[in-house]
Amino acid sequence: MIYLDNAATTRLDAEVINEMGRVMNNYFGNPSSIHQQGRESRVIIEEGRKKIAGYIGVMPAEIVFTSGGTEALNIAISQAIQKYGIKNIISSRIEHPAVLNTLKYFTEKGLVNPIFVRLKEKGIIDIENLESLLKTNANALVCLMHANNETGNLLPIKETGQLCRQHNAMFLSDMVQTLCKYENNIPNFNLDFIACSAHKFHGPKGCGFLYINKNLEASPMVHGGGQERNIRSGTENIYGIAGMAKAFEVAHRDMQKNIGYISGLKAYMIEQLKNNFPEIEFNGDCENSGLYTILNVSFPETVKTKMLIQKLDIAGISVSGGSACHSAKEAMSYVLRETGTPINRTSVRFSFSKFNSKKDLDICIETLLNLLTGNK
Ligand SMILES: Cc1ncc(COP(=O)(O)O)c(C=O)c1O
Repeated sequence: MIYLDNAATTRLDAEVINEMGRVMNNYFGNPSSIHQQGRESRVIIEEGRKKIAGYIGVMPAEIVFTSGGTEALNIAISQAIQKYGIKNIISSRIEHPAVLNTLKYFTEKGLVNPIFVRLKEKGIIDIENLESLLKTNANALVCLMHANNETGNLLPIKETGQLCRQHNAMFLSDMVQTLCKYENNIPNFNLDFIACSAHKFHGPKGCGFLYINKNLEASPMVHGGGQERNIRSGTENIYGIAGMAKAFEVAHRDMQKNIGYISGLKAYMIEQLKNNFPEIEFNGDCENSGLYTILNVSFPETVKTKMLIQKLDIAGISVSGGSACHSAKEAMSYVLRETGTPINRTSVRFSFSKFNSKKDLDICIETLLNLLTGNK
């Protein structure tokens, strides 16, 4: 089996499994209990928080553990609306459903006015348009993802943060696809909130965090025993947090090696696809730039491209047609539609990790040749 769907989720790292096993075997106390077992569990959580905070240059108190990216994004948007009275939210039509559906919910309740920034060719965020929207919409929240999960398009996050500061806007970035892929020093970006999800970088599923800038006060979003600065109550996921902290450590230790290796895989795949399929096109900005783990391509639609994702699956190759939510459907994803992919093309997203090899890619190309041209 060849797994090329690492933007959907990644395999757990062996070091992460070991660390989670160690914590599971040795710690069971409730971190809120004052006795020894409780205190030991509390140490695991606070050490994890400190470690993660250190890698992204923030204070431990700025990290609120959540069940993942979706929850972090929901809380950040709710916080901006309910605590800060934000009405104007400037976002894009290619955000993750965790953002778009939260915005839809609050819009239907009449609480926010969503404004969508213009996209340039290839789905690139039009920063000049963002600037003019910021000029005409006071007290806004800007909600833009750092890397798009379907195309890998990258936002110039530093420039966006500076614009937000100049115009007194709050800034939330969904950094689910870029944390642990680059050295991200959060204070450089003038961010108020970021969302993180551990399963995108070989950590456990169901665990992530919301970063909330220390200058912001936050009110309870999940009500209960007051855990996580009384923003998100509930007994903490100690095993998930320990695993996420280990995944951060491994990713940052091996970052330069992984960037070089995975970028090499992507470049090789581009070359092989171009050599073997002259009619291939690249969706979004992924051919020459973009996140090094994502490559989204399209083939001209023919009888042979029908159910291509499923045929690849049967041949033992896991890819997706867009995000995980869209991978089982033939319909074009909303992100690719907004990005300008012609309707009469069949798209495939390949997404890579350190666990892939050139051999995986060779087998994938051979299988594609077999399926699409019958030449192999
Ligand atoms: C860009 C992006 N944002 C948010 C999410 C949601 O994260 P989670 O699966 O942790 O809820 C995902 C993952 O599907 C994603 O790719």
